[in-house]
Amino acid sequence: MDFTAEKAYAKLNLSLDVLSKRDDGYHEMCMIMQSVAFCDDLSLSLRRDGMVNVSINFHYIPCDDRNIAVKAARAFFQRLGDPRLGADITIKKRVPVCAGMGGGSSDGAAVLRALNRMTGKPFSVGELESLGASLGSDVPFCVAGGTCLATGRGEKLTEAPPLPHCTIVICKPRFSVSTPELFTRLDSFAAKLHPDTAGLLSCLENSDLRGLSQRMYNVFENVLPQGKEDLSKIKGVFIDNGAHGAVMTGTGSAVFGLFDDEKKALTAHNELKRTYREVFITTPIKRLVF
Ligand code: C5P
Repeated sequence: MDFTAEKAYAKLNLSLDVLSKRDDGYHEMCMIMQSVAFCDDLSLSLRRDGMVNVSINFHYIPCDDRNIAVKAARAFFQRLGDPRLGADITIKKRVPVCAGMGGGSSDGAAVLRALNRMTGKPFSVGELESLGASLGSDVPFCVAGGTCLATGRGEKLTEAPPLPHCTIVICKPRFSVSTPELFTRLDSFAAKLHPDTAGLLSCLENSDLRGLSQRMYNVFENVLPQGKEDLSKIKGVFIDNGAHGAVMTGTGSAVFGLFDDEKKALTAHNELKRTYREVFITTPIKRLVF
């Protein structure tokens, strides 16, 4: 197979806890991650000259070796041990950057999945996840997605019961936050409140959307250097329109609300659209089988 299409699904954090700082500079995490249908679209074709080319519809994203899709393809071919192989990759991006939605990580993971399929599935899901860990902390989760408890740097994954069916509205305010800066701020502030991860997992076990939504929590929200007003305004629109809960994802700045009523979700979406450009409506997806 020389040509294929692949979807790179966005991820959301139903919870995010930072437990400690490690000696390698990274942090020990404890997060419940969820993938959603909202995605970037990739198309890939194999080359036989060792070149890796990427083109993206967002002109400000670099297409050279800094691009995670380029890094993923090079890592894949290196692991495969075939320097003659290369790829042309086209990315139609929808997932906003600097949003905490794993857009880049998911593109990297999609490249690994697609190249694995195109070369006759030489690697298992676990091997692709390990390869993904060398590209970024969220890449391993994005390889198969679904609903997972992620610990370690984010690369240790335990599958959790799926999020019950719901409608999710995501709003990315204009401001963006630097991930390393937010980790540094958290180190100096020390979070007092932590998500009830065990409680969240038991809500997933019982398909209790309401209980889960009310327990969603992200420790980064308390240490944001800016944008707290935007966040409370967006959360207010979600809750006033019937969301069971709302929380920031990753290091932000996107916020999402969970609804069991699609019409209410649409009303919240339309209201937020009057103020914010990047508002999306989507649904959770289950772990990919490939
Ligand atoms: O792994 P990734 O490249 O996505 O991480 C980006 C930055 O986020 C790291 O350089 C580090 O500052 C921070 N980080 C961390 N602990 C993690 C994940 C990320 O400190 N578990």
